[in-house]
Amino acid sequence: MRVILIGPPGAGKGTQAKRIRKRLRIPHIASGDMLREAVSASTPLGQQAEIYMKKGELVPDNVVTEMIMERISRPECEDGFLLDGFPRTLQQAKALHKALARSDVHIDHVLHVKVPDEEIIIRSTARRMDPVTGRIYNLKSDPPPKAIIERLIQRSDDNETTLRNRLAAFHRQTEPMIPFYEKQGIIRRIFGLGTLEEVECRILSALR
Ligand code: AP5
Ligand code: MG
Repeated sequence: MRVILIGPPGAGKGTQAKRIRKRLRIPHIASGDMLREAVSASTPLGQQAEIYMKKGELVPDNVVTEMIMERISRPECEDGFLLDGFPRTLQQAKALHKALARSDVHIDHVLHVKVPDEEIIIRSTARRMDPVTGRIYNLKSDPPPKAIIERLIQRSDDNETTLRNRLAAFHRQTEPMIPFYEKQGIIRRIFGLGTLEEVECRILSALR
């Protein structure tokens, strides 16, 4: 199964992808995580991406598209994948479509997780990540155990100014991509408020 998760920053894409990937038995490919790894390793790609990520802007289409195409061409993605954060522009969506069509495969579902802007700011500023396990926590809605609180890190783009830019980029550059998938009849809207379990249930029933 080939699935795309789209939604504004902090919609819960990463959180839900980690919950459902085992059930679907497909690899979770998160463009943001891959870019952050490249930034940490200071690769040429990371150095280029960092300039945009710091400001909350999208990294140029060709850079991200090339990175994802290489990843999904690997043997472990042959039976499917769960894309989180890619595509994010109409140009990226078209490039993905074209590449898959060459192998005579297609996207099965596009899950659009909908969360109001006010909730995004609350969620994202309280997000923390465990660098040891990669687990995402939230100081308010999903608090970490006290024993590990010291080692948790906050993403540098989770400050209010950068977040507002990321949110604006979503509305300006990502939302216009939605009609492309609407025309194909594969978009499923997921109400993103509620407990993690409730949102997961909605996603799983949309995939059935
Ligand atoms: P990326 O890492 O993809 O960030 P994003 O899309 O802004 O999304 P987030 O990871 O912030 O949110 P999420 O939806 O995964 O939410 P999470 O599950 O963590 O991209 C970062 C940057 O990389 C971009 O700004 C851009 O520069 C670049 N980039 C990446 N892909 C690109 C592309 N394709 N093209 C160009 N540039 C690209 O949850 C958030 C918080 O909420 C957590 O604390 C969680 O615990 C909590 N939470 C989750 N669900 C709930 C719930 N139901 N109730 C309450 N709290 C909840
Ligand atoms: Mg994420």
